[in-house]
Amino acid sequence: MTEILRAAIFHTPANPFANPKALIALDDGGLAIEAGRVVQCGDFAAVSAAHPGASVRDWRGGVILPGFIDTHIHYPQVRILGGLGHSLLDWLEELALPEEARFADLSYAITVANEFVNALAAHGTTTALVFGSHFAPATAALFSAAEAKGLRIFSGLVLADRGLRPELHQTCEAAYRDCQELIARFHGKGRLGYAVIPRFALSASEQMLEACGALLRETNGLRFTTHINENSLEIEEVAKLFPWADDYLGVYERFGLIGPASVLAHNVIADNAVLKRLASHAASVAHCPCSNAALGSGVFPLKRHHEHSVRIALGTDVGGGTGFGMLKEALQACLQQRLAVDPVTLNPGQMLYLATRAGAEALGIDSKTGDFETGKAADLVYVRPRPASVLSAVLAHAESPEHKLSALFTTAGSDSIGEVRVDGETVFGDN
Ligand code: GUN
Ligand code: ZN
Repeated sequence: MTEILRAAIFHTPANPFANPKALIALDDGGLAIEAGRVVQCGDFAAVSAAHPGASVRDWRGGVILPGFIDTHIHYPQVRILGGLGHSLLDWLEELALPEEARFADLSYAITVANEFVNALAAHGTTTALVFGSHFAPATAALFSAAEAKGLRIFSGLVLADRGLRPELHQTCEAAYRDCQELIARFHGKGRLGYAVIPRFALSASEQMLEACGALLRETNGLRFTTHINENSLEIEEVAKLFPWADDYLGVYERFGLIGPASVLAHNVIADNAVLKRLASHAASVAHCPCSNAALGSGVFPLKRHHEHSVRIALGTDVGGGTGFGMLKEALQACLQQRLAVDPVTLNPGQMLYLATRAGAEALGIDSKTGDFETGKAADLVYVRPRPASVLSAVLAHAESPEHKLSALFTTAGSDSIGEVRVDGETVFGDN
């Protein structure tokens, strides 16, 4: 049975930084879906003529976008959102790590895992690369909650054997064994995938990073994620712990951790030598503008990343960031780049790409999701302006499709998310 969703539709089947025509904007669009896949996306008149027997869902007045893809977020930090006024290392010590220690309690972890996946879906995020917990049962709870909710989640046990607090440290042997068990249980199961996740170089011994390399070599298709070059004090400490490394990236490179399946969060303070090497590895950077501002980490050098052809996607970095909203994250990327030393003016197509297809590319799933090309998964967000809201007024009077799309980034909050689907299945809906 074919269903056609009728609304304004935007998606970016190509990269709008490379191709100025990459944004597809359909004012009266039709998205035909069958068995969870896109069968056609185009003007409603053409799509309905091609599928005369299809049922039509009339979402006119609203907008359909590909599901958002969040490439950096921490599940055990939902409840500490909103802690402003800190810098990375004191925020970790005072807010993040005490909260993350609570995940030793499995029932606490299960409750928060459900809050977390519900929040992702309610904000239109259909795919995410998620930092799990330092505790294996709590990490399993996240995978189980994601599976029950129906989201595409890459996650894993967060690894540390020094530098945090003792209850968050594992031995390398226990870390390796727990990861193997979680991989066997969850990697490739339905929409789930496993990521190897040392928290950051500051909290990992060489032996732990060696274990990460072994895990990546032993199982096909794992992702790798960690933090890098976020904060100047952090970078100084990493240099002291790994005096043999030329720079922060060199620590991870030494253990074979960097490649096309690697997503490195932040990279705010990065010289050109690092950018050149990231590009040569085809690794991706998760740009987290809300977090970078909230923790005073700095303004992301987006222009230099582009000049070096480093792949970039967006991450909310909950709870160092300010919430789950990927529209807000893209807006912050835009606003902060206006103010950067080397400014870049992002257009709405580029913002949409960063929040959707760029994430799919970073995770190596762009042949499956990230836009509405025929054959792709029907992963989508229906943005529905509330009656008499500012958003509805702006959308009704927008003079161009681009203005309509910008209005979403500037004006639509999570209260505007009407329905969210993954593989055509509804994971959130308040209709
Ligand atoms: N570096 C190490 N751990 C963290 C974390 O939880 N959040 C952020 N933003 N940076 C980190
Ligand atoms: Zn983070």
